[in-house]
Amino acid sequence: MGNDIDSILNKAVKYHNLDEKEILCILEEKKESKRLFSVADEIRKKYLGDGIHLRAIIEFSNYCKQNCLYCGLRKGNKYLTRYRIEPQEIIESARKAKNYGYKTVVLQSGEDSYYSVDKMTKIISTIKDLDIAVTLSIGEKTFEEYKAYRDAGTDRYLLKIETTNEILYNKLDPKMSLTNRMQCLENIKKLGYETGSGIIVGLPGQTLKSIAKDIMYLKSIPIDMAGIGPFIYNPSTPIESTKENFFELSLKVMAIIRLLMPDINIAATTAMETVNSRGRLIALQSGANVVMPNTTEVIYRKHYKIYPGKICINDSPSHCRSCIENKIKSINRYISMGKGSHIKQKRGIK
Ligand code: SAM
Ligand code: SF4
Ligand code: FES
Repeated sequence: MGNDIDSILNKAVKYHNLDEKEILCILEEKKESKRLFSVADEIRKKYLGDGIHLRAIIEFSNYCKQNCLYCGLRKGNKYLTRYRIEPQEIIESARKAKNYGYKTVVLQSGEDSYYSVDKMTKIISTIKDLDIAVTLSIGEKTFEEYKAYRDAGTDRYLLKIETTNEILYNKLDPKMSLTNRMQCLENIKKLGYETGSGIIVGLPGQTLKSIAKDIMYLKSIPIDMAGIGPFIYNPSTPIESTKENFFELSLKVMAIIRLLMPDINIAATTAMETVNSRGRLIALQSGANVVMPNTTEVIYRKHYKIYPGKICINDSPSHCRSCIENKIKSINRYISMGKGSHIKQKRGIK
């Protein structure tokens, strides 16, 4: 078995290509995955160097019309205090982010129709005047809406597929459909956005085989950015409870993605650090090259409770900025000065 894994990893390093069976073989390996993580780190270094791109995430509304069973922002969660940040205040947060030295802001929210296309495009174009990159992560929209946001200057869009297993998807995301989610990603790609996606690792009912298929799907798009996070059980949701920690498995998924897509941007996710106190640094040493520090004002951030134990909920945007800088220095890496576009997309950035 060990030899099999070695030859699969050698193939991945050489050709950046594996089939589903080979991916599954890596995922099923029970022994420690030290070599997988170190080769993913080497590939990251070879293609992207030691710079780390910071993306300032602004969580501007926790209202959501959807009811994903795993998520604390789901409409049916009566235990959550809801908030919306007004457009002018979102723009102010972006201005602050720029002053902290961020070159990208990520505007994230539940699916909240309070922010009409008109409101959103005004927010986007005003932020674009600050000469920073804008990523949206606001869920499923129509082609026309995605087009309007792209025309307003949005550079990137993040929409996780969560799982490509249709039965599981339909069970966990009531009234949503895998077909529509895939169509959204297709539209996002077609419109020239840098396209980000990823999965939740450890969803109840998910198998390693379905994770292997997820990875193949992400490569087929192909994505420009990946966000892989462990499932974290939220007791305010109806999903099956689990105490299992999916850090190691998420890290393996992330490292495999690095081997298969050597030059894309991959985030060391907040969810990884929530389940492991050194999670982001470990991820940055196992293939990741992006961190998304929280830039939401303190009064709001404790209410963006996707899952319990989320890091940074009592910290200020400026504290998170200096905290992450120190952490990055501690592993002898540095913060990139550019906007950090996927190198294949650089010419398209607005
Ligand atoms: N509403 C948008 C969407 O769904 O694309 C963006 C906001 S949503 C809160 C951002 C991400 O949170 C989702 O893509 C999902 O992967 C993640 N998430 C939700 N519940 C989670 C949980 N219990 N554990 C880990 N990740 C979770
Ligand atoms: Fe809403 Fe996104 Fe949470 Fe689903 S994952 S309930 S769409 S915020
Ligand atoms: Fe928020 Fe460290 S990044 S406290």
